[in-house]
Amino acid sequence: MRKLAAGNWKMNGTLAALEEIRALLADHPAPGCDMLICPPATLLAPMAALTAGSALALGGQDCHARASGAHTGDLSAAMLRDAGAAYVILGHSERRADHGESDADVQAKTLAAWQAGLIAVVCIGETEAERDAGKALEIVGQQLAGSLPEGATAANTVLAYEPVWAIGTGRTPTAGQIGEMHGFMRQSLTARFGATAQEMALLYGGSVKPSNAAPIFAIADVDGALVGGASLKAADFGAIVAAL
Ligand code: G3H
Repeated sequence: MRKLAAGNWKMNGTLAALEEIRALLADHPAPGCDMLICPPATLLAPMAALTAGSALALGGQDCHARASGAHTGDLSAAMLRDAGAAYVILGHSERRADHGESDADVQAKTLAAWQAGLIAVVCIGETEAERDAGKALEIVGQQLAGSLPEGATAANTVLAYEPVWAIGTGRTPTAGQIGEMHGFMRQSLTARFGATAQEMALLYGGSVKPSNAAPIFAIADVDGALVGGASLKAADFGAIVAAL
């Protein structure tokens, strides 16, 4: 399976940040893994113009479950696709927390993404309190079951395991904790979706940086990373790409 280095720029970046993309592509014109940046929606079209024909794919950070209509401030999956996206992040813990998104919401958005021809990057992960209570596997199992519609395949879906307590904190789980969770995810996905789950990319996300990328990528069933802060600078993200 080809690995995936994905960057989530979150609510960061204006046109000046296109310089980072120029630098990334100059340093990594033909990376040994798939490379994805999910900028704020305002940057999708200019970034698509800059990266046309390159090894860098683009994605959105959310989409509405409906195709169109009276939803002020929202974007449809087809709009993201039209602006140059091939992927869309769905169910990120920041959207679950800030916008009250439920597993059912994420499932509906995933269907909308597929219908528009986008690959859904579905995010799941436990809070620190849930892990401390010994419920990490249970919570992630529930999120997996509730957030994915029938019909998920390696071609239309990527999973990102992001423990909430590791996002933007500089803390990362142990290799044993990541390995246990990714193994559990692979097993659960295979039980539900069959052989295609063996080829589904399972990303780890949460304080991935150049200094810890290689050991994280060496863990079984880790097929890449969803990188937040360290994806904003070409040098850092490039080093993570090179480690895959
Ligand atoms: O989507 C990315 C994750 O939330 C990780 O963010 O690398 O800044 O911890 P971070």
